[in-house]
Parts: sequence; C-alpha cells; structure tokens
Amino acid sequence: MIHYLGETMGRKDKRWVLQRKRDFYYKLAKKLKYRSRASFKLMQLNEKFNIIKPGKIVLDLGCAPGGWMQVAREIVGDKGFVIGIDLQPVKPFEYDNVVAIKGDFTLEENLNKIRELIPNEEKKVDVVISDASPNISGYWDVDHARSIDLVTTALQIATEMLKERGNFVAKVFYGDMVDDYVNLVKKYFEKVYITKPQASRKESAEVYVIAKRYTGKKWEEEDRIKRIEKSENEDNNELLAKKIKEMRKLKSKK
Ligand SMILES: C[S@@+](CC[C@H](N)C(=O)[O-])C[C@H]1O[C@@H](n2cnc3c(N)ncnc32)[C@H](O)[C@@H]1O
Repeated sequence: MIHYLGETMGRKDKRWVLQRKRDFYYKLAKKLKYRSRASFKLMQLNEKFNIIKPGKIVLDLGCAPGGWMQVAREIVGDKGFVIGIDLQPVKPFEYDNVVAIKGDFTLEENLNKIRELIPNEEKKVDVVISDASPNISGYWDVDHARSIDLVTTALQIATEMLKERGNFVAKVFYGDMVDDYVNLVKKYFEKVYITKPQASRKESAEVYVIAKRYTGKKWEEEDRIKRIEKSENEDNNELLAKKIKEMRKLKSKK
C-alpha cells in the first residue's frame, strides 16, 4: 500500500515495510529453491561489480547452507568449479563441480584440504568470496573486532589462493576499523569498493568489501600482526577487548 511509503510514515509502519521486505527475499528464496535469502545479495553484488564469470573457479569461505554456492554455480556453469568451506555441514549439491567441506577456514590444515580440491596444477582460484559471520557476543566492540579478524584472515587466504587479477568479496560488520581494513585490501588489489546490496537488511551492520584484480603481491607479516591471535579461549571477551586495544595502539602509531 503506497501511502505507507510517504514522508509521514511512523516508526511502526517503517518496521512493517522492513518486515515485508525481509519476507520478500525470504519468500523468493523459498520459491526459487535457494538455500538462503543471502543468495540475492551475491546476485546483486555480481550484477553491479561483475566479480564471478562463466568458467571460473570460486572459493566460498563460510558457505553454509550454500545459497552463495548455488548462485556461483549458476554463473560459472558446467566448466567452472565451486568449493565451499564452513564450520557447519552443508547438504551435498546435485552438481559434480560444486563441493563443500566442513571445517574452520582459519586453520591451515583445512586450507590444504581446499588446495587438494582445486582442479588445476597451480592450485589457484579465480575468485574468493566470504559471507562468514563471527559468533555474535552482543558486545559491539568485540563483534566488530571479530568480524575484522575474520575478514583479515579471508584476505590473507585470498592472497595465497588467488590467481593474479582474481577478485575478492568479503562481508564485514561496519565499525571504526573498516577504513583500516579497506586500506589493507588496497595494498593487494587494484580496485576496492565498499557497498551494501539491496537484499541486505538496512538495520544490519553488514557491508561488503569488493576487491578487484589481485596484484599478485605476497601477504606481508606486518599485516598478520593486525589479526587477533586465535586463542583457545575464544569466547573470553575480556581477552578480546585487550587485543582490540593492542590493535588500536598499533593503528595510532602509524
Ligand atoms: C551468513 S552465513 C553464510 C551464508 C551463505 N553465504 C549462504 O548464502 O548460504 C555465515 C557462515 O559463516 C560460517 N563461519 C564463520 N566463521 C567460520 C570459520 N572460521 N570457518 C568456517 N566457517 C565459518 C558460519 O558457520 C556460517 O555458516
């Protein structure tokens, strides 16, 4: 009903419109047999930035339940290949060229498993995409830092796995460290954009970093320092908060 969209729209009505929008993508995903409403985010990102092309090899970090993998498969077609990894198990796909493994992508042993699956001699992919979300603690600072940590790992993996001129996409929870992260990505890619696709809920803090044309520059140790060391006690928020302070100190010294 159009009159709900007028300037005088109240808070409750706005919520109603948002709710309906949410349902729109949810329902559409169900109708079109996509495994997640997130599928539409990748579709919209690809339409705008042309990240994935037919025949390419795609690596999806944090892929469950597999909505992005379905979209990637539709774009790469029979001649391409899609590999996904997630902490959660992913229901097998009906295509031979779409494979998901269960595991933590921050662990080297799992990266070796991915390498074994890449169908070329050089063991490199054309595109790395990541919609991975950290465990949400509810502490804004901690969740933002965890997200930055995860996308920094994803970036490092991209520099190790991508062919030269390959593309990278990563979701990040917006916050004060995003600018630093974008600058870091710029060290390794020719073009970097930050965007929010229409299918992403307005009230969600997520944004997507789009990086095009990997320069081939090797990952630098000093960039590794910015990552929060993976600790056994990952859920210790106090420890994480301390690490965040250390990261900020490093930032202010620059
Ligand atoms: C929003 S979901 C991804 C949805 C997916 N793009 C789709 O369309 O179906 C985020 C995923 O990231 C995964 N994840 C977070 N950290 C991870 C890690 N270190 N290793 C592997 N998966 C991870 C979570 O298990 C979760 O399934």
